[in-house]
Amino acid sequence: MPDRAEHWETLYVTKHADTVSWYQPAPAPSLDAQARITPAKSTGLIDVGGGASNLVDALLERGWRDLAVLDIAQPALDVARARLGERADDVQWIATDITTWRPGRRYAIWHDRAVFHFLT
Ligand SMILES: C[S@@+](CC[C@H](N)C(=O)[O-])C[C@H]1O[C@@H](n2cnc3c(N)ncnc32)[C@H](O)[C@@H]1O
Repeated sequence: MPDRAEHWETLYVTKHADTVSWYQPAPAPSLDAQARITPAKSTGLIDVGGGASNLVDALLERGWRDLAVLDIAQPALDVARARLGERADDVQWIATDITTWRPGRRYAIWHDRAVFHFLT
């Protein structure tokens, strides 16, 4: 039985990111939700379980400037980084298991499965 990280890493290594069942060319539910939130785009925002999603690309295009993508599968983050090219340097990439991770800083907005959670 592979452990959790191995399971997800194997998946991203053996399948193209745009062939996984949850792939969306444009992550419409998340972008619709994002359009309804109004904090400054310099607010820290982290996409938890972001994988190779295009959401980070869209958030950069929409002017978000303090972005992080966290995923247990490094290969997924590598796909997103490669796609973004130089723009990837404007994002913090965190390869870890969210269930044991302790953030070293504050992110006011947490995105997970098309929902944006605000820390007060
Ligand atoms: C269904 S996929 C969704 C990926 C991405 N949000 C998207 O819409 O394309 C779930 C993602 O969660 C990641 N994941 C699963 N368990 C995790 C954990 N414990 N910590 C961090 N990421 C995890 C997987 O590697 C995978 O990329």
